[in-house]
Amino acid sequence: MKITDAECTHFQRNGFFLVSNPLGKQGMREVDFLQQQVEPEWEATQFPQGFNRGACQFFLVGEPLLRMVETPEILQAARQILGDDNIHVGACGLGDASKTVAADGRAQRQVHWHADGGPEVRQVSLRTALDRHDASNAPLRVLPGSQHRPRQEMITELLQLELATGTHDTPPDHCFARHPDEVEVVLDPRFTLVWTPSCWHATGVKTAAGPRRAMAWNYYPTGGRTRDVQALQQLLPAWEDWSESRKKLWGLID
Ligand SMILES: [Fe+2]
Repeated sequence: MKITDAECTHFQRNGFFLVSNPLGKQGMREVDFLQQQVEPEWEATQFPQGFNRGACQFFLVGEPLLRMVETPEILQAARQILGDDNIHVGACGLGDASKTVAADGRAQRQVHWHADGGPEVRQVSLRTALDRHDASNAPLRVLPGSQHRPRQEMITELLQLELATGTHDTPPDHCFARHPDEVEVVLDPRFTLVWTPSCWHATGVKTAAGPRRAMAWNYYPTGGRTRDVQALQQLLPAWEDWSESRKKLWGLID
């Protein structure tokens, strides 16, 4: 996965770009098979509180996925984008996010506008769909360039667009309304989205039946997030025997 300076510039300005899936057909078949193999066990398991369930499924698959994250060309691309040689994986996930349950108990059919991070958070995430996320399958919607904008300004703007739909009695807690500058990313398994979750994003509504599986992982520069370290340590106890450099890459040591 070689990236060009133009792609890097597009990322800095807009917050995302798409590349051909670096795992290829064979790699995707392998992930698809392994995901289906671990899903029943994952579904039946109650993980400790605070563990991200998507990360737990990722670690249940284990080695084959870790090796994908550690592909030298992908690491090089992440270092180039972040402008830091010392990067680590601070979050990862696998599975069907539409199977997660919303705070009010409903199955989550759509995700509201939010940013995971802000202008000060440097991060790059690789997201690959195992099933095509088209317009009927809750596609990711991103607002290009919004990773640079102050949080409060974005909240105000999205709320105003939401109120302008005329569908609310009182200002709502969550906003879903279409933004005139948003990009709906139809993510096909043949491509991988390289983006920053600091960019404001939402999803469309899932109207299609069937799975909406994806895998994702985020790289951070020195001092960045290490969300899934405890889950990794519990689900992959062999980590203690890993090399220093591998422990560093997974944020287990500084
Ligand atoms: Fe998000």
